[in-house]
Formats: sequence, structure tokens, C-alpha cells
Amino acid sequence: MTIAKIFNATLIDAPTPHALRVRENVYCVITDDGVIGQICNNESELREEFRRLLPAVEKMRGTQVLIPGLVDLHIHAPQFKQLGTKTDIPLMEWLQKYTFPAEAAFSSPSHAKQIYPKLTTHLLKNATTTAVLYGSNHLEATKILANCCFEAGIRAFVGKTCADMLTPDYYVETTEGSLKDTEEFVKWCFEKWGSGKDAVVRPVITPRFIPTCSKELLKGLGDISKKYNCFVQSHAAESVDEEALVEIQHPGQRDVEIYNETGLLGDKTILAHCCRLKDAEVGVMESIGSAVVSCPWSNILFARATVPIPHYQATFPNLKIGLGTDVAGGFGTMLDNMRTAILQDRIDSFATVNRSSNVTESDIKAEKWTVDFKYAFHLATASGARALGMEDMIGKFEEGMKWDAVELDLAMDESGEGDSLCDRRQRFTRFGDESVAELFEKWVTTGDDRNVRRVWVNGKACNEKLDVSKISAE
Ligand code: GUN
Ligand code: FE
Repeated sequence: MTIAKIFNATLIDAPTPHALRVRENVYCVITDDGVIGQICNNESELREEFRRLLPAVEKMRGTQVLIPGLVDLHIHAPQFKQLGTKTDIPLMEWLQKYTFPAEAAFSSPSHAKQIYPKLTTHLLKNATTTAVLYGSNHLEATKILANCCFEAGIRAFVGKTCADMLTPDYYVETTEGSLKDTEEFVKWCFEKWGSGKDAVVRPVITPRFIPTCSKELLKGLGDISKKYNCFVQSHAAESVDEEALVEIQHPGQRDVEIYNETGLLGDKTILAHCCRLKDAEVGVMESIGSAVVSCPWSNILFARATVPIPHYQATFPNLKIGLGTDVAGGFGTMLDNMRTAILQDRIDSFATVNRSSNVTESDIKAEKWTVDFKYAFHLATASGARALGMEDMIGKFEEGMKWDAVELDLAMDESGEGDSLCDRRQRFTRFGDESVAELFEKWVTTGDDRNVRRVWVNGKACNEKLDVSKISAE
């Protein structure tokens, strides 16, 4: 249940790419319906309607800070068990050898009930409050995934993955069956949680990627997305081997064009990877309002490519863009991917300099290292929210927005000296004279889940430990 209350605490968010907003020692009111009622500097500024909550003020230490929950725009739920393993071969081989067998196991609902609650725990532990998830091809297991997200209290976009060709016989659907199960899943979600923007669990139309979907399937999914005004997720322009396969299947055509032609490219479409997009394709996505999801860790491992975020930002200022973990192609958390986005940006700028034989000093100065910890945090919060059309609801702290938040303890070792041998309560060392902004930067660059204390979505405390016996496909 949502408990209306007031925090007297430090709020940290990043509404714009290049600035961290740190509001120290403010009063932040959370209303009964899980919305931020007011943010003010002093008790005396609290509006009359919230004064009744004064006995419920929770005063937090200056180093216990509240941040918007992280938004993971691309994650494969049935690959969670594989996380951290089996990333030794290129994408197309990896799918056939490891990933399709792992996903096919979700034909068993009991397998889904065993794995998915562990995934929601992992997400909450690592400060993710919104996740855009691929399920497996199976309707029942995908319903179990949606129910797990709901019970855990995560804001989730869930899709039944669709594939009617190229996957092995044990993991392929008929075109008709794929469309039927997709529509049933959408209706089931809408009946349970409503079709509005504020539904906590929302369905996503999920063609796996162009190579595993016939055009008939893609067109049918495009029709369903229009009929129900649903989000669409897929992969695009991920890697050289994927690109080559699409060229064989559809000579002269490319991913973005095919999604557009089949009615799948709209302002509710989010496309993962996008490492190998041509600028003209980025321009099309910008003008239509589709989002690019950079999955930096996975892109480096599998695509051997990067998404040039600063270039996209400079050339296509209205492009929606956010970050995803791409579990299990990427084996990092959102925090890991924020760091990888920073490193990836540096590597891209080295590459530009290294590739050009006549680089001048002024060229080097003109190189902008734009992805720093602030921008990475912005991408993982406010920018991710914008990719989902939810910039007015989540991703930053403003009056009227939902309380989707994470409490971090940035000074778990108050003395700053640690235990006698080794302080395992947090990963980074605190010296005691850092500003709260510096401590937060240390968390982004070197911290981990040990600093995460509490997580809320819609003002409700999330549930890290699901009662598996209560999870069903109903
Ligand atoms: N393309 C199609 N399926 C997948 C997948 O599961 N992971 C990644 N990274 N790319 C894909
Ligand atoms: Fe993926």
C-alpha cells in the first residue's frame, strides 16, 4: 500500500544531459496515490493540504540520497539464467547454439515460475524500476513474467517474442499462432491492468528481429500495434552478421525500412542496438519519434560496434535515446552499462583520432567527450523515460510525477575508515570530505547494489522476495 509521507532528504536527478541536479535537505511530499505532491526547501513552505503529514516526516542522513529509478529499455527475461556466461561466439551463432535452447525451456510454466522471480529480484536490487522486457515465444510463460513484474511492483513493458522462421524447429511459431498469441496477450494485459499510460504492466508487440519474422508476420504485428495503440520493440542494425542476413533475405532493404513498410515504426517503437544505422535512418526514426536503445556492453561483445550517442545528439537533437542491458548478450547491470556508455564514448573518440592521419590539435580539442557520469545517469533515467513517452511521469523528480525512486546510502561506513581489515559494506572508499555530488559520482563510476537500500514504484515499496507459490499465468 502507498503510504503518504514526507521525506526530508537529498534528491539527485538529471533532467538534462549535462547537469546533475542536487537538492540537499529538501522536503519531498509523496501523496496517497504515489505522486510527488510538493518539493520545497523548508517545512514552512509546505502547502496546507500536506501539513497533516508532518508527523510522518522521515529525516534522512545527508548521504542517504533519493534518485529516480533506472530505466532498462531492453532486456531478455528468458536469458537471465545465462547471464554472465556463454558470450564467446558471434551473435547469430550464439543465438543458435545457446540462446534459442535456453528460451525454448520456457515452454514449461514451472521453469518460468522458477526463473522470473529471480530476475525481478535482480532488477530491483540493482536499482531498476522500469524494464522493457522480451519474454520467450510462449504465451503462458510471458503471462507468468508479467505477473512476476506486477507482484514485484516493477514498472514493466512485457512482450511475447515472435518468430515464425529461421529459429530451430523446437522454437518456431506459425505465423497465425504468433499473431493470435500476441493479440491474446495484449487483451489479457489490458483487462488486468488497463490500457492507459499509467498501467504498471503494459504489453509490447515484439517481433524478435527481421531475420526471424516473415513479412506477413511483421505486417500482422504492425496491424495489432495500431489496433491497440501499443508499444513495439525489436532489434535493428545490430551487427555485421545480422545486417548480412537481412541483405540475403531482403536484397536492397534494411531493418528500419522494413519496420516502416510493415507498420511497425511509430512514436511508440523502441529499437535496440542501432549500431549500424545510416544517418538517413536515424533521421527517419527522429522524425517518426521512434527510440534508439544503446546496449553498450552487449554492443561491444556481440556487435563489435558502438552507438555514437554524441553524434546522434548533435545531429538529431529530437531523437529519443536510452540505455538497455540486453541481458544476456550483455552481462552487465544498468550501472555497468552507464559506465560502459562513458568508456564507449572515449573509445569512439580515440578511433576518430586514430583513423585520421592528418588530425590537428584543434580537431582533437573539438572532439567532445560528451558522455560523462551525468549524461550516463540522464540516459538511464530522464532520457529513458522520454523514449517511453513518460517524460512527464518518471525519470526525474518534479511535482505531479510518479514516485519511482531508489534510496542510495552513499556512506555506509560513516567513519570513512572502514573495518580493521576490509570494509565490505560498500565498494568505494569514502574519505569524509566529499560533497554529496562527488559521492554520487563515485557510486555511478564505482559503486554497486550494496548502496541500494529501498526501491519504490508509484509510491509503493517494491517487493524483492516474491512468494513463488502465488505466481500463476492467470
Ligand atoms: N537479435 C535477435 N535476438 C537477439 C537476442 O536475443 N539478443 C541480441 N543481442 N540480439 C538479438
Ligand atoms: Fe537484444
